[in-house]
Amino acid sequence: MVDYQGKVAVITGAASGVGRGLALYCASIGMKLALGDINGGKLRELAKELKAQNADVLTYVFNVAKDQEFKAFAEKTITEFNAVDIFFNNAGVSVPGEIWSLPAEEWKWVMDVNVLGPVNGIRAFVPFMIAQDKDCCVVNTASIAGLLPAFNAPVYSASKHAVVGLTEVLNFQLQDVGAKVRAFLLCPGYIATNLHNCMENRPSDYTGADDYFQSSDFKERYDIMAANVINGISVEKLVAVIFDALEKDQYYIHTHEEFLPLIGKRASNIVKGRRPRSPGQYKVQK
Ligand SMILES: NC(=O)c1ccc[n+]([C@@H]2O[C@H](COP(=O)([O-])OP(=O)(O)OC[C@H]3O[C@@H](n4cnc5c(N)ncnc54)[C@H](O)[C@@H]3O)[C@@H](O)[C@H]2O)c1
Repeated sequence: MVDYQGKVAVITGAASGVGRGLALYCASIGMKLALGDINGGKLRELAKELKAQNADVLTYVFNVAKDQEFKAFAEKTITEFNAVDIFFNNAGVSVPGEIWSLPAEEWKWVMDVNVLGPVNGIRAFVPFMIAQDKDCCVVNTASIAGLLPAFNAPVYSASKHAVVGLTEVLNFQLQDVGAKVRAFLLCPGYIATNLHNCMENRPSDYTGADDYFQSSDFKERYDIMAANVINGISVEKLVAVIFDALEKDQYYIHTHEEFLPLIGKRASNIVKGRRPRSPGQYKVQK
């Protein structure tokens, strides 16, 4: 097993859910932590908890969608620790809805956080990670919604497909320059986090279509999303799967075996040029 003692983990979206679980685990195995999140209150609470356990923690409150803010987070991390061993490019949000009913602001918000966020993260951290010339890795959080169409959440699915494409190219470009940085693609199914309440962290730049949240279409799809997230696997289980995959150099990190045949079915449709007939084709049979 890799000895992570004294190594540095960078985590975005660290104040809740997956990011928080990663922070607690990384601290428990002796890693130093650089934690970023837009929610300053929750991030400070977590830092207090970690410091009480003697963890070496740096926090930075920022918006991953803003490239200059991400660069400032990277500068602060590098000044403090002068190393990055695992970079969890993790923050993300979702708004369910029908493609043509979802307001432009919601499309923009989710794409800014879920697509430009990881891009900004790569631009801020990867040049330093290549230059440090030692084994290290970037773990981009996509989703099963980046490998299969998420029927209720088109903007989320589109954004996570973008993260899949981005990370596949990142993997090749890192190899192409002979970097010692390995890319990993995290594609979880539902995890019990606070994702369904992510609207609480939406910056005021995007408000203006609040009527949408009163619509019955939104409310019905939101209830489905919330139920799925609440009944997801535990963050602790996910963290164990992630660290096992890092150890085995398993690029695609999956959590729910039952989705794998559906990915195969989709690939077969693509190769054969077949139109998928109904969303049911991609639903897990219970
Ligand atoms: N929960 C699931 O079922 C699930 C499934 C697959 C993938 N994911 C992905 O996991 C990642 C983590 O989500 P989670 O489920 O832990 O949700 P969460 O809401 O519990 O945590 C997300 C964190 O990201 C932060 N955040 C939101 N917008 C931000 C921004 N602009 N800048 C910086 N920080 C921001 C939030 O404040 C929050 O602390 C996301 O990328 C999500 O898409 C979640």
